[in-house]
Amino acid sequence: MSLFITFEGIEGSGKSTQIALLAERLRARERTVLTTREPGGCTIADAVRTILLDARNTAMVPRAELLLYAAARAQHIEEVIRPALDSGTTVLCDRFADATLAYQGFGRGLDMKVIEELNGLATGGLAPDLTLLLDFPPEEGVQRALRRNDSRSGPNEDRFELESIAFHRRIREGYLELARREDRFRVVDARGSIDEVAGRIARAVDPVLAAGVRQ
Ligand code: TMP
Repeated sequence: MSLFITFEGIEGSGKSTQIALLAERLRARERTVLTTREPGGCTIADAVRTILLDARNTAMVPRAELLLYAAARAQHIEEVIRPALDSGTTVLCDRFADATLAYQGFGRGLDMKVIEELNGLATGGLAPDLTLLLDFPPEEGVQRALRRNDSRSGPNEDRFELESIAFHRRIREGYLELARREDRFRVVDARGSIDEVAGRIARAVDPVLAAGVRQ
C-alpha cells in the first residue's frame, strides 16, 4: 500500500539526512520507497530548480518565483509522484506544497488564497498522508545550510540562505501555524543528535504505517 510522506522545515533542519534514514528503515520492512525533492525530482523540474536557487538571480520577483515553484511541482507530480503512488510505492518528498505557503506566503507576503488556488492547480488535489515538520532554530539552520552549500561542487544554490534571519523566522512561524491548522502534520523537534531525531520521526510515522491510510 502506498503512502505519501512529506518533510518540511527551514534550511539546515536536517531533512535530507532524516529522509535517507527513514527510507532505509522502511525498506528494511519490505516497503518499496522512492525519495524525491522539490523543487526538482525530474529533468524539467530540476532545470527550474537551477533558475530558482541560483544566487545570481537577485532580480527575480516574488510572483515569478511562485509560478516557477508551481510549474516544477505540476511536472514532478505528473511524471514522478503520481505514478509511484499508483504502483504502491511509498513516496518520501523533501518539501511540497506547504513550502510554498511558508516561503512565498509567510516569507514573501504573497496572497495566501492565491497560493492555495495555485497549489490546487499544481497538485491536482494530491495531498500528503503525513507531513513531518522538522522544527529547528533559524539562526543555526541557516549557518548549517550555508556551510553545506559551500562544501558542494556545482551551481551556487544560496539564493534563499542569503535572505535575512527575519525572513527565516517568518518561515518557521508560518510552518508552525500550518501545522496547527492541519491534522496531517507532526511537529518534530529537530535539535539533538541524528539518532534522537530519527527516533522521534519513527514514533510519528509508525502509527500512520499501522493505520495504512491511503487507498
Ligand atoms: P532545498 O532543496 O535546499 O530545501 O532548497 C529549496 C529552497 O526552495 C528552500 O530555500 C526553500 C525554497 N522553496 C520555496 O521557497 N518554495 C517552495 O515551494 C519550495 C518547494 C521550496
